[in-house]
Amino acid sequence: MKLAICGFGRAAQALAKNILDHNAHTLQTVICRSTSTKQGMDIGEILYGKGRTVGIVITSPEKILDSQNAYDIDVVIDFSHRDMAFPLIELCGNLKANLVICTTNHSIEEISKFQDLSEKLNIGVVYAPNLTVGINLLMDFVKRLSKVFPDFDFEIIERHPKDKAPVTTTARMISQAIDKEDVPIHSVRLNGYVGVHEVTASNGYEKITIEHESFSRMAFANGALLAAEYIENKKGAYLMQDVVKHIISEE
Ligand SMILES: NC(=O)c1ccc[n+]([C@@H]2O[C@H](COP(=O)([O-])OP(=O)(O)OC[C@H]3O[C@@H](n4cnc5c(N)ncnc54)[C@H](OP(=O)(O)O)[C@@H]3O)[C@@H](O)[C@H]2O)c1
Repeated sequence: MKLAICGFGRAAQALAKNILDHNAHTLQTVICRSTSTKQGMDIGEILYGKGRTVGIVITSPEKILDSQNAYDIDVVIDFSHRDMAFPLIELCGNLKANLVICTTNHSIEEISKFQDLSEKLNIGVVYAPNLTVGINLLMDFVKRLSKVFPDFDFEIIERHPKDKAPVTTTARMISQAIDKEDVPIHSVRLNGYVGVHEVTASNGYEKITIEHESFSRMAFANGALLAAEYIENKKGAYLMQDVVKHIISEE
């Protein structure tokens, strides 16, 4: 599959390393906003150090549009910022490429617009604010538990590094998956964590705790590639839950 990555921060760099290391897919280009200080840099120098070029130069959405279809891309994976989602959907419409949106903090209205635009532009979009397989399985489990056993109360704890704003989109999505009003969410901010989400359910007589921890950003890179493989030949809007359900149903 021919891939492009948007953004080149921590998660995007893990994804680029994964693609370059495994040779299963081709990284065609990396897109950053036109004001990015990384414009024109070879990504090898960012990933591996000065002089270690890999021939992939960071470009902007504007330069891609000006290039008159010089880019052959199947799927764009976005690890930049929520503001890039709509410009990228338009760009994908022009390139006839599909899109995996991995950025977070989108409003419900924005998420429903992703669906409208994917139909209007006839492209495939996966909205994946939580990419790990484990978190998607956790959400499925707590959803079933809360539906089948309404006497259980739930609390969520999320642990992340100090620079992550509370509360995570993932914690909010877990609380929405639980069939209960106002599930409390507690945020812990300490450096060293990549990301932990823990759900405890109790009915006063027994307790279940289920915890998911990402050890490395490679967990996000792997999830992004699963989503890209899923959407490669599809049209319309999907969620990461659809990707994981599809993989489980194939087994
Ligand atoms: N879905 C998931 O499971 C998952 C997992 C990890 C991360 N994420 C999300 O992925 C995104 C990136 O995370 P990260 O940890 O890699 O962050 P990061 O290290 O801060 O990188 C952010 C990237 O976005 C660019 N950027 C910042 N503001 C922008 C804007 N207004 N418009 C366009 N580009 C902008 C930055 O580059 P320049 O400043 O050079 O333009 C940089 O390349 C975040 O939204 C994060 O929540 C999601």
